[in-house]
Amino acid sequence: MKRLTVAIDGPAGAGKSSVAKLVANRLHYLYIDTGAMYRAFTWAMLKNHIDLADTEAVQSLTDTIQIRLEPAAEYCRVYVGDTEVTEDIRTADVSSHVSPVAALAVVRTKLVKLQRDMAASGGVILDGRDIGTVVLPDADLKIFLTASVEARARRRYLELQAKGSTDTLEAIAASIAARDDMDSHRAVSPLKQAEDAILVDNSQLDLQETADLICRIIEEKQ
Ligand code: C5P
Repeated sequence: MKRLTVAIDGPAGAGKSSVAKLVANRLHYLYIDTGAMYRAFTWAMLKNHIDLADTEAVQSLTDTIQIRLEPAAEYCRVYVGDTEVTEDIRTADVSSHVSPVAALAVVRTKLVKLQRDMAASGGVILDGRDIGTVVLPDADLKIFLTASVEARARRRYLELQAKGSTDTLEAIAASIAARDDMDSHRAVSPLKQAEDAILVDNSQLDLQETADLICRIIEEKQ
């Protein structure tokens, strides 16, 4: 049985990370949440009050930052240096700032290298926007996971509500649509389906059904 390199790309809120975590746990693969890495970088930019336009400061942060993902049972713990930022990178503040940061070529170069190093051993599932197109163009299996904006906003709304957030459904839908737009139209590594990716639309599927489907696709290929 071959331990595959699996790329799952798609827009915000399609459930990529939840699905990828479940599938990785079931198949004993390593899960690498690349969005968490862009979020961690953004968290550090905000914490250090670095302006996007300040290329020197961005470059210097890129040169010095240490971002580490530590697989945990149900999720990836995320560290910037010695500080755990697993929760802090999920705030609305980070979500609304991450896309412009992720559009910076210097940031992408740094994080893509880190992602390729982490994926080198196989038996990995990476989720993101450009895994099948840029990070691992030779991945054994590529999945493009998407759902309607309405379905994605509803899921994120319920998830955030459970955490006590008061964000409205409309605000979340607008933020998701804005991120889709920015992620799909940026010059560097825009979000797009790789030609050889399998399209999975999970608007009508729940998390377990989506994970079952993706497990089956992987098992057929192993
Ligand atoms: O996956 P998640 O929604 O946490 O990603 C946060 C943001 O990080 C995305 O909206 C996108 O701007 C950026 N990202 C990216 N490339 C990836 C993963 C995420 O540009 N591979």
